[in-house]
Amino acid sequence: MVLALVAPMLVACRVQVTPAGVRFSFAGDDLVVHVPAGSVGTEVTMTAVALPEPAGANTVPDTAFSVTPDRGWAVPVRITLAYARSAVPAGVAEGLLTMVRRESSGWVPVAGATVDTLAATATAELTTLGQLAVGWVGCDRRYASTCTLREAAAPIGIRVGATLEPAQIGDAAYISVLHREFGAVTPENALKMYSIQNQRGVWTFAGADAVVDHAADNGLEVRGHTLVWSQDQYTPAWVAGLTDPAELRAFTDEYIATVVGRYAGRIPRWDVVNEPLATYGTGRAGSVWDDLLGAGWIADAFRAAHAADPDAELWINEYGTDWVPGKHAALLALVGELVADGVPVHGVGIQAHRTSTAGPDAAAFRRQLQDFTALGLQVAITELDVPTDPRDSGAATAQAAAYRRLVEACVAVEGCTEVTTWGITDADTWLDGLGVFRTPTRPLLFDDSMQPKPAYRAVLGALCAGRPKGAAAV
Ligand code: G3I
Repeated sequence: MVLALVAPMLVACRVQVTPAGVRFSFAGDDLVVHVPAGSVGTEVTMTAVALPEPAGANTVPDTAFSVTPDRGWAVPVRITLAYARSAVPAGVAEGLLTMVRRESSGWVPVAGATVDTLAATATAELTTLGQLAVGWVGCDRRYASTCTLREAAAPIGIRVGATLEPAQIGDAAYISVLHREFGAVTPENALKMYSIQNQRGVWTFAGADAVVDHAADNGLEVRGHTLVWSQDQYTPAWVAGLTDPAELRAFTDEYIATVVGRYAGRIPRWDVVNEPLATYGTGRAGSVWDDLLGAGWIADAFRAAHAADPDAELWINEYGTDWVPGKHAALLALVGELVADGVPVHGVGIQAHRTSTAGPDAAAFRRQLQDFTALGLQVAITELDVPTDPRDSGAATAQAAAYRRLVEACVAVEGCTEVTTWGITDADTWLDGLGVFRTPTRPLLFDDSMQPKPAYRAVLGALCAGRPKGAAAV
């Protein structure tokens, strides 16, 4: 920047320097804007506003500023951000620090930035401003705070997923957390039979297409949830009301072929059968499929899905096996029969909708996961949430411990390949509308303001710790 151009601006715009605020100097022809850690200042031709904490996973506290020019800059401006050494998180080496800028994908390094570790400053020449901070880029799993969930999980072969509804695609805040933290989505409702063919013969794919397209455009994997949900209250009334076995069989075959075929190559894994067992029991659910087609309908559904997309992973997904007495053994027996019969089943989804912050016993839960990997199958936690009691002042801590136990169990079992939470923020949970729990249940990893909770840090820590030596393999 040429000094002659700067001087009139300085006069015109009145330099204001707050006591602990922004400081200006010149280096050769450049205007230098010094932004000390923690300050909020007004300055010449730009406004520097400290961002509220936490500014982001990869930033040193009190160094994040939104720097907005009053007018466009045609030439580079040198920005210097100061950081306090004591504020650098334990375990993050000063050598990892640089100046970072907030983009839609998260904090990215500013090209050409330099760090003076003696002065504890980061400096860069910028022609466009925005949200700037001192931080570091990339996940270093030795320091959990340098990683997002998906970054921490990917190297150990675990997908971290969350639900996505078509309406949420337009929610920029939700989507930004989704893209930053998660590598997979499960359509919460859009791929259910009641969404796809609620009226006989009327196929409705708009919602499912929107979720699948969004996932494809943003590098997210999709868990296809679900082809046959064996609970009549969630089945289209016209299907649940069928009485002719041949009619139900023909429809089910056509439905699976159509839906799996439509998304072949775009949905790599399906919950082919959801909740085949009684919700609070150990027998079959007693759905229209059980009643009209007999026990063999489950194997037939898997064979139909395999025929429609031989490359897709096919999963069975169940609720309550972690807390309904005898239900795990019942599911294990059912899955064991499918495997013994050569049915194309590849994975078992344990929903893990918890009922409180108590439990599960970590070792027992791990053994349940291992029971399925011992059959040569993958296993996953597919619908995780942990409701809290709003009267419990220690709920957030207890919830974090519960999440840690569950995720550590998955991490400890080599064939556990996914942890999906049933929602992202406490504001989006299905549990508050259930009429069962005292509300708000606050069961998820992010609070109503999209800020990470202790449970988030517990999950991140468990993922960063990695698979223990000797983790049980598939
Ligand atoms: O789409 C209608 C909308 O048109 C209507 O205005 C509104 C009024 O209540 O209802 C909307 O449908 C709701 C639907 O979610 C979409 O939001 C249903 O009433 C509601 O029952 C449905 O709840 C879903 C539930 O499955 C039943 O499908 C929950 O969101 C969803 O979280 C829940 O997910 C299930 C998993 O699929 C399987 N495992 C258990 C899990 C929790 O029940």
